[in-house]
Amino acid sequence: MTDLAKPAGEHFLSVRDLRIHFDTDDGLVRSVDGVSFDLERGKTLGIVGESGSGKSVTSLGIMGLHRSKRARIAGEIWLDGEELVGADPDRVRQLRGRTMAMIFQDPLTAMHPYYTVGQQIVEAYRVHHPQAKKREARTRAIEMLDRVGIPQPDRRVDDYPHQFSGGMRQRAMIAMALVNDPSLLIADEPTTALDVTVQAQILDLIRDLQQEFGSAVIIITHDLGVVAELADDILVMYGGKPVERGPAATLFEAPEHPYTWGLLGSMPRLDRELQERLVPVKGTPPSLINVPSGCAFHPRCPYAQLTGGRSSSELPVLTEAAPRHHAACHLPSAERHRIFTEEIAPRL
Ligand SMILES: Nc1ncnc2c1ncn2[C@@H]1O[C@H](COP(=O)(O)OP(=O)(O)OP(=O)(O)O)[C@@H](O)[C@H]1O
Ligand code: SF4
Ligand SMILES: [Mg+2]
Repeated sequence: MTDLAKPAGEHFLSVRDLRIHFDTDDGLVRSVDGVSFDLERGKTLGIVGESGSGKSVTSLGIMGLHRSKRARIAGEIWLDGEELVGADPDRVRQLRGRTMAMIFQDPLTAMHPYYTVGQQIVEAYRVHHPQAKKREARTRAIEMLDRVGIPQPDRRVDDYPHQFSGGMRQRAMIAMALVNDPSLLIADEPTTALDVTVQAQILDLIRDLQQEFGSAVIIITHDLGVVAELADDILVMYGGKPVERGPAATLFEAPEHPYTWGLLGSMPRLDRELQERLVPVKGTPPSLINVPSGCAFHPRCPYAQLTGGRSSSELPVLTEAAPRHHAACHLPSAERHRIFTEEIAPRL
């Protein structure tokens, strides 16, 4: 993420005012409603928000996987100088798996149960290297399994996904995603289903691979702790909209948005007792069909009454709080700093 004033096509990845809405029988679901960010090669962006905030829909949108009749997509997605929202679906298909690849939350749904892990990595490779011989593709699959830390890869390559443990399946999916050296990797909750030790290993692996391959990485999570050490920049989403965006260090040291304060308060910390450390954000996520008026967070925000009624009537827009650091909140900046320093920081 850099200065959004720079033209979109000049960044490696640039998302501009992305909107993805779904026509459903219950009404229009505004899953993603005005998301913008930039990301360069070799950098990591963390997208953070509660369940239903539009994180997965954003990433599937970048991958071009929302081309159903019921999806309405607007805005721009620039990848290496090429705009994808208006692009030919065949072109996006070519890029998917090769230039951009995705790791899903649950490898069991992303991997086919009837094919061996090796067959699936081979297939992912040969789709984009049709001239590659089977033997060469198999060697490549074994290399990749080795690279992601699967023991005895030349033997495990012939196992089926169910013969792998959860952590190993996740590694295999990373191997499959990386087999074509993508320059953009999107990891959607890559560790949620795993226990804490394996989580840390997978995150280390993603970081090592990124350093080795210099790709741009988007890590999606509901847990700020996951991206604390990994992300260069963080985008916080609430109800389909970005509410705060900035360098990770700034966001942790001087967060500007009351929702981010809530997320920080619910972040697991190794140095605290479980009881003490987990304070979830009070209330429930908003409906994306009848989105609350004004700031969508206002029904849950402890500070909404400090804005003279604006919180419930006027949509706050992202404004610059510090260089490259933006937040969407009606509270005056000085007031936010006071609240954070006096009330929030001492409890974190
Ligand atoms: N195809 C679809 N049709 C209608 N609504 C959808 C569709 N896909 C997603 N949604 C809705 O869009 C909203 C955002 O979904 P999304 O999957 O992006 O959330 P998320 O932030 O990834 O949450 P989680 O942390 O639970 O994975 C949800 O309310 C979801 O029900
Ligand atoms: S705009 Fe109002 S409701 Fe929204 S986060 Fe700021 S203070 Fe809270
Ligand atoms: Mg999701």
